[in-house]
Amino acid sequence: MDARSYRLSCLKESTVFEVDFPEVLHAKATIVEAAANSRDEHHHPTMAAKSLIRVAADLTEDDWLEKLQKSGFEPEKSTVWILEGILYYLSHSHAINVLKIIAEKCNITNTVLLADFMNRQATTFIQLHLPLLL
Ligand SMILES: C[S@@+](CC[C@H](N)C(=O)[O-])C[C@H]1O[C@@H](n2cnc3c(N)ncnc32)[C@H](O)[C@@H]1O
Repeated sequence: MDARSYRLSCLKESTVFEVDFPEVLHAKATIVEAAANSRDEHHHPTMAAKSLIRVAADLTEDDWLEKLQKSGFEPEKSTVWILEGILYYLSHSHAINVLKIIAEKCNITNTVLLADFMNRQATTFIQLHLPLLL
């Protein structure tokens, strides 16, 4: 439930494409709409990005980039991909496939990719040390 397009003024000239399952995007749009219609004007969400386009797609299917493109995404344009909290929900082969598609189809000199990873070492560390930190 990222809200960068509502939070980051540096996106004022950027189109944000948000890819997720349709039901997640729908739930999010409903929450934003409810906040926009609430009586408490201080909490009305204001779009900071130039625009936000929600794209319903499953990253384990082969058609997610096509769906992005049909929604207006142009792979040759400067793009920052944010794969935050997603790769470790996918199987190894699906995660590699997502990265390959981006590497093969996007203009690599204009592309920045940010991603977080979780491996066995990291999860073991968390299991051992998180209870001590809480
Ligand atoms: C931990 S959240 C992080 C999302 C994002 N970074 C944010 O801050 O909103 C993981 C998201 O990945 C989505 N997700 C998981 N598997 C997916 C898939 N195969 N295709 C598309 N989205 C997926 C989930 O529905 C969830 O919204």
